[in-house]
Amino acid sequence: MAEVLKPTVLWLDGCFDGFHYAHANAIRQARKLFVGPVRMLACVHSDEEILKNKGPSLFDEQERYAVVASCRWVDEVVEGAPYITDLDTLDKYNVDFLVHGDDAVVDAMGRDIYAPLKAQGRYREFRRTEGVSTTSLVQRVLEYPRLRQECGYLDRLLEEFVESIPGPFPVVDFGSLSGAMASPFCSLVGAKVYVPGSWDCFSAGHVEFLRRVKEAVTSDSKVVVGVWSDEEMTGGPPLLTVVERALAVVQCKYTDAVLWNVPKCTPASRLGFEMVVNRDAYQHEPDSAQVIEVLMPPLQTLSKLQDRVHGRIDAFKERQRPSHIDQENV
Ligand code: CTP
Repeated sequence: MAEVLKPTVLWLDGCFDGFHYAHANAIRQARKLFVGPVRMLACVHSDEEILKNKGPSLFDEQERYAVVASCRWVDEVVEGAPYITDLDTLDKYNVDFLVHGDDAVVDAMGRDIYAPLKAQGRYREFRRTEGVSTTSLVQRVLEYPRLRQECGYLDRLLEEFVESIPGPFPVVDFGSLSGAMASPFCSLVGAKVYVPGSWDCFSAGHVEFLRRVKEAVTSDSKVVVGVWSDEEMTGGPPLLTVVERALAVVQCKYTDAVLWNVPKCTPASRLGFEMVVNRDAYQHEPDSAQVIEVLMPPLQTLSKLQDRVHGRIDAFKERQRPSHIDQENV
């Protein structure tokens, strides 16, 4: 009988606040450090831990847990993970290695918090992804619509994401389809269901929506997510570029294929799809695709994100102001 290989258990902790493609890439890269089967524990700090150690988070813990759990490279989410992971914690969860990006993580005294794990050979590192962070996301929100970051390597990252997904996982730039209408994307991938959207500020609402879409279709129906091009967005440009938005849906486990850079008004039937999820009023051209109605949960919109960013800044200021008691004692 063939011996079943015991997976290497990995612990990757973080805030995962404003989940972005660098977080997904961290999880993906961490897995790739090891040959053989891996069990990836994505360990997410609670709101309270983040508040104590860093300041208020943008997204609350339930939202952060849900988005991390939907990443296709995660096997399990450890909710409320401690901010500083010690050897006892690794042993409690039967973890082989803690994995982290190559940015230095130090305590208030400037000491490397992973030194004890490194000394025991229980630490591994991957290269941190450039171009995005929670801080830069906040910055983009504050400078919206002026700031638009374009990273040349994102097309390559999209390819790397696809290479890390077992089985065929078609991801196609609509703009690259020559004679797009002549060779409908869905016939290339054998898919029937199309779910187009902007997928900007990808968060727990989007994840829940895609989960409901998967639930609403038969198990052999591939769900193709369409990502609208930057130029086609109504109500101002998106916060994230089309490649960044494509990366967000590719890493999500409820997606079977992605067609990105699609003009918003393109009817599903013109692309060759038999079914479309929640056909919207903006599509004025006739569309013969059958409509599947899926209830949309409340979504994180740009304006809600702007409110959160300002709320967080106010909370920071509030925390920095001496308290009433302190003032009395001065
Ligand atoms: N990470 C990464 N590249 C980034 C951001 C994060 O590889 N651009 C990695 C971190 O090194 C860590 C994991 O993602 O291993 C979880 O990150 P998180 O705690 O959310 O870390 P931050 O470093 O605070 O991420 P951000 O700057 O986005 O807030």
